[in-house]
Amino acid sequence: MKNFDTVIGQDLAAAVKYLRADEVIGIPTETVYGLAGNALSKTAVSKIFQVKNRPTFNPLIVHIADASEVTKYAMINSPLAERLMAHFWPGPLTLLLPKKANVPDLVTAGSNLVAIRVPNHPLTLALLQKVDFPIAAPSANPFMYVSPTSAQHVMSQLGGKIPYILDGGKATVGLESTIIGFDGDQAVVYRVGGISVEAIEAVIGPVKIHQKHSAEMDVSAQIAPGQMMKHYATGKPAHFEDTYPTQLVSQQNKVGILCFNQVPDQIKGLNISKTYILSPNNDLNEAASQLFEVMRLLDEDDEVEVIIYVRFPEDGLGRAINDRLNRAVTP
Ligand code: TXA
Ligand code: MG
Repeated sequence: MKNFDTVIGQDLAAAVKYLRADEVIGIPTETVYGLAGNALSKTAVSKIFQVKNRPTFNPLIVHIADASEVTKYAMINSPLAERLMAHFWPGPLTLLLPKKANVPDLVTAGSNLVAIRVPNHPLTLALLQKVDFPIAAPSANPFMYVSPTSAQHVMSQLGGKIPYILDGGKATVGLESTIIGFDGDQAVVYRVGGISVEAIEAVIGPVKIHQKHSAEMDVSAQIAPGQMMKHYATGKPAHFEDTYPTQLVSQQNKVGILCFNQVPDQIKGLNISKTYILSPNNDLNEAASQLFEVMRLLDEDDEVEVIIYVRFPEDGLGRAINDRLNRAVTP
C-alpha cells in the first residue's frame, strides 16, 4: 500500500481530482465520516477494502447525489422504497435494492442487492454533483473499530494511508444510517441507525426488525448486513448492563462512565474517575451526536481502566445507541 502525507482540508477540487484518479479519501456525512472511492471502479473499491482492512465479504454503501439517480444503479422493487426515499433523502437512511449490472460485484460482496443512500451533507452533496460516478463509502474506521465523527478521528486512524480528508466539521447525527430492505410487502430494518424506527413507521407503517447477533452473522454479511458483533469495540474492558457487577466495586478499578442523562445510583460505590453525561437535558439526538466521540475519549483516557456504558431508553435513537453499545462490550 502507498504511503501518503495526509492533508485535511475543504478543497472540493482536490477531492474530485483524487476520486477521478481512483484514490480513496475521507469524506464527511451527517452520520459518520466515510472512506470514499469511485463505486464503479474496481481499483478504487479494492483500495477501500485494503485501507480499511475490511474483509471483502462485507459490502459497501453506494452514495448518490439525488434520489433521481437510484435507477441508474438499482431497481426500485417496492412502493415503500419510493415513500422512504421521498421522505428521508437526503438523510441517514440506506435502502437495499436489486442492483443493476454496472455496480461491481466487489461493492455488494456478490449479493444481488446494493445498499444505496443520499447523504445529507452540503460538502459531500457538492462532491457527488461534481463527479459522474456514485461514491462507495464504508465508515472511515479500521475494520471493527468505532466510526469517526470528525476529520481528526479519520486522521488519527487512517492518516498516512489516504491522500486527503475533506473536512465537513463534526457529524451532526453521529450514528450510521438506518438500513432497510424489502421482503415482499414487508420493510425490514437490518441496522437501526440515524433515523428512528418510530420515524420510519410514521411514514410506512409497521416494520420488521431483523433479529441479529447470531453466530452466523459474524461471517455472512448477506445474512446480517451491518450487524457484525464487536463492530464497535474499543480496546478496554467495557460493561453494558442493567445491574452492575459487584466485582467492579471490590476491585476498585478506575471506572469511566458513559450515560444518558444522569449517573444511576447503583454505580455510585465504584471508583469513578470520569463521567460523561451525553445529554443532561434528555435529548437522545444530542446524545447520539456525542456517542462515538465519547467512546474514543474513554478509550484513550489513561485515568480509565474499565468502561461502563449505561443502557439508554429503548426509544427514538436510544435503540440504535443501545445497539452500538451492546456491540462495543468485551465478550
Ligand atoms: O451512515 C452510514 O451508513 C455510513 C456513511 C459513511 O454513509 N456508512 C456506513 O458504512 O456505515 P459501513 O460499511 O460501515 O456499514 C454499512 C453496512 C455494512 O455492515 C454492510 O454489511 C451493509 O451495510 N451493507 C452494505 N451493502 C450491503 C448489501 N448489498 N447487502 C447487505 N448489506 C449491505
Ligand atoms: Mg462501519
